[in-house]
Amino acid sequence: MTDIVLLPGDGIGPEIVEAVCSILDAAGADLKYHTFDIGQTSYDKCGELIPAETLEAIKKYKVALKGPVTTPVGKGFRSVNVNLRLAFDLYTNLRPAYSFANISKYQNVDIVTVRENTEDLYIGEEHEIENGFEAIKRITVPATDRIIRYAFEYAKENNRKKVTCIHKANILKQTDGLFLARFREIAKEYPTIAFDDKIIDNMCMQLVMYPEKYDVLVAPNLYGDIISDLIAGLVGGLGLVPGANLGKDVAIFEAVHGSAPDIAGQGIANPIALLQAAVMMLDHMGKKEIGKKITDAILKTLNDGKALTKDLGGSATTKELTNAIIANL
Ligand code: NAI
Repeated sequence: MTDIVLLPGDGIGPEIVEAVCSILDAAGADLKYHTFDIGQTSYDKCGELIPAETLEAIKKYKVALKGPVTTPVGKGFRSVNVNLRLAFDLYTNLRPAYSFANISKYQNVDIVTVRENTEDLYIGEEHEIENGFEAIKRITVPATDRIIRYAFEYAKENNRKKVTCIHKANILKQTDGLFLARFREIAKEYPTIAFDDKIIDNMCMQLVMYPEKYDVLVAPNLYGDIISDLIAGLVGGLGLVPGANLGKDVAIFEAVHGSAPDIAGQGIANPIALLQAAVMMLDHMGKKEIGKKITDAILKTLNDGKALTKDLGGSATTKELTNAIIANL
């Protein structure tokens, strides 16, 4: 058995985590779950968004499967996700998205977003100025170099052809200017991989019009966050796309979506995004065959189209979709 930390989180988190664990067990993933609180659920119990014992467990077991969390709105609450990424230096946010037959509006998408996960505007440094506030956008050479190298190494290892850098260097000449300059420099180390760059606004239009032209994208934190939601929309919505937060020692796998308070507790959430994150986790652990078995079952279930949740245009419950995937394993 392989130990992992399970973080059910808030909103639809516990519902989809339960569904995903039942599929992992049925597929023979052979995992031992160590369950810990995080987010609003934890705050309500003990006054901490990330209790020390949760951090300790992640440090010990090194791999976590995480449900979404709700960040309480108000002063003094930093995002749980940002804090986790900083606590374990999870500098890469890897978000693959590809088209699903019968489901996706676009049938020609196969894009991996590599998002820098530790700096940019997400450092959360804001301060008051006369008549308003300012936020700090931080871009440094070490953080930029390691994410750009990760993107090129990922492309090399996964037989990808092109890496595109996303930026706004025309306006942000020093911060995004640095990101783009380092990208162009590091690209020279990978002569077999094509590279280009796009300004974020043009990139949004390009992705909607010609998604087939894009392969691996690398971006500072904010643009990566936005663009990966846009790409999720191209392939069928947030209920389908996964993400991995990767550092040197620790890896945390989660869906791209949030805690979906509008549908929490109704038993209608789509568990596939988190399930796909679990497949990335299995790959990371060297259990690729189990991951492939689950991916095939997801594709068959989506193709059958008989047990689709509401976000996919059906009326199935989380349980019905889960059972259909298990039956297709
Ligand atoms: P959201 O992603 O939770 O929901 C956006 C829309 O997508 C909603 O209509 C929701 O019902 C739908 N949706 C999301 N996941 C779904 C699923 N699995 N199945 C079916 N429909 C699904 O974004 P929102 O509403 O902006 O954020 C809610 C909370 O989640 C906020 O507190 C936010 O801070 C947090 N959040 C947490 C994230 C994380 O923990 N990784 C990521 C994004 C937001």
